[in-house]
Amino acid sequence: MRRPLIAGNWKMNLGRSEAIALATKVAAGVRRDDVDVAVYPPAIWVTDAADHVVGSNIIVGAQNCSPHERGAYTGEISAWQIAEVASSVLIGHSERRHKLGETDNVVRSKIDAALAAGITPVFCVGETPNVRNRTGEYVPYVMEQVRSSMSERSYDEITRMVVAYEPVWAIGTGVAATPADAQEMTAAIRLAIDGIAPGAGERVRILYGGSVTPANAAELLAQPDVDGALVGGASLNAADFLAIVEAAPRRI
Ligand code: PGA
Repeated sequence: MRRPLIAGNWKMNLGRSEAIALATKVAAGVRRDDVDVAVYPPAIWVTDAADHVVGSNIIVGAQNCSPHERGAYTGEISAWQIAEVASSVLIGHSERRHKLGETDNVVRSKIDAALAAGITPVFCVGETPNVRNRTGEYVPYVMEQVRSSMSERSYDEITRMVVAYEPVWAIGTGVAATPADAQEMTAAIRLAIDGIAPGAGERVRILYGGSVTPANAAELLAQPDVDGALVGGASLNAADFLAIVEAAPRRI
């Protein structure tokens, strides 16, 4: 049985005291012990957030890591450095792919780095509005994104990953995918994973992300192949984020 995972991506928001306050409220407010809850603060507040969730089960992660291990990469943070204070990292978020030019190759190297450092990569995939409009193409497009970063990995490595399906047209737009659209793609992603490592498809958690709110979370999370949510805007408000955690189906 895959445990639901509700993850908050705080992006480049919140000052230090705000980040600490939000982490503290989330840690104090989670009522479910059958759901994993994770927060991804800006890198500079990761340690603060981690310090303020001690004693809870909240997972703290970073929003990005370098593909390199160490050296002359000014401004970068490596996966093993993250591993000293946190246990997960978002990789390949669409904002990094489309605003910062991250390619599939770079994404793959970052996943390599995260796995080598022993932290959980939350690997993001999703199609642009243009691709979405090409009927018959958007599912193969996302399956190819999955293959480009997950192929030629061992079963063990693949099952240490989390995948987040985030259609670019749904991120920050207020227009979430329909539950049927989310189900269609998460099922296809599971199939692609199973094609790479037979049996792994059933084990890997696949999240949906893009305009998830307390109002639409229950329906999205009820889909059989949607194992959780990656939440942006609504994760900045503790009450909203906690309501999304509550909306996870009781599957155990
Ligand atoms: P959103 O962002 O919930 O604000 O649409 C989701 C994300 O970018 O992870």
